[in-house]
Amino acid sequence: MKFIIAIDGPAASGKTTTAKNVAKKLKILYLDTGAMYRAFAYFVLSNNINLEDEKKIDGMIKQVRIDFKNINGEIRIFLNGEDVSDKIRNEKISQAASKISTLPVVRDHLVKLQRELGKKYSLVAEGRDIGTVVFPKADLKFFFECSVDERAKRRYKEYLEKNITGIDLESLKKEIIERDDRDRNRLIAPLRMADDAILIDTTNLTKEEQIDLVIKEAKKFKDRL
Ligand code: DC
Repeated sequence: MKFIIAIDGPAASGKTTTAKNVAKKLKILYLDTGAMYRAFAYFVLSNNINLEDEKKIDGMIKQVRIDFKNINGEIRIFLNGEDVSDKIRNEKISQAASKISTLPVVRDHLVKLQRELGKKYSLVAEGRDIGTVVFPKADLKFFFECSVDERAKRRYKEYLEKNITGIDLESLKKEIIERDDRDRNRLIAPLRMADDAILIDTTNLTKEEQIDLVIKEAKKFKDRL
């Protein structure tokens, strides 16, 4: 039987690590909706289009093809056939993705693609509006919270591990606060906990503890089938 797990929460709250691992353990698909907004933003920036030019962005939406492929057990994202998985993981793209994600034309397009995948496959989807808008009937919903200091530290560590330099902890913290603020206060599909979501504060949890909490709930759900 098909089932959908939704994980929403602010930037760097632990959604990605958890969603990826839970999907692997349950042998279902992992859907990173943030990566879709990032790939879209990458396309817009690469074509020198203003991030606020909704009309122009609307006009080129049909030229944007986004696919996910499993390459040696890792889910990679492709923009018009090009693997952009690594190119979309930096602060410039984080902010650009957050900005274009306020545009209705972009959201409509990407939400449609996400729902098509949800119709075909069981999945663990992570994002900002998964439990509220994309899959309001998801079988299980989680909302991750985490202190901003801890989130900035985690992102900083991730960048160091990937040898991404030129960013300091304080400015990273500011960028996270700015992005959260935009994501929470936008008019359409703002970041918000669904009424029926389970709240998990990851501030003092290890990756393993976060994953275990979600798996434990998923098992309860599977037992009911
Ligand atoms: O999860 P992330 O940091 O990769 O997401 C990048 C941006 O994309 C985020 O700041 C807001 C936007 N986004 C969104 O609006 N809705 C989603 N479901 C996922 C991401």
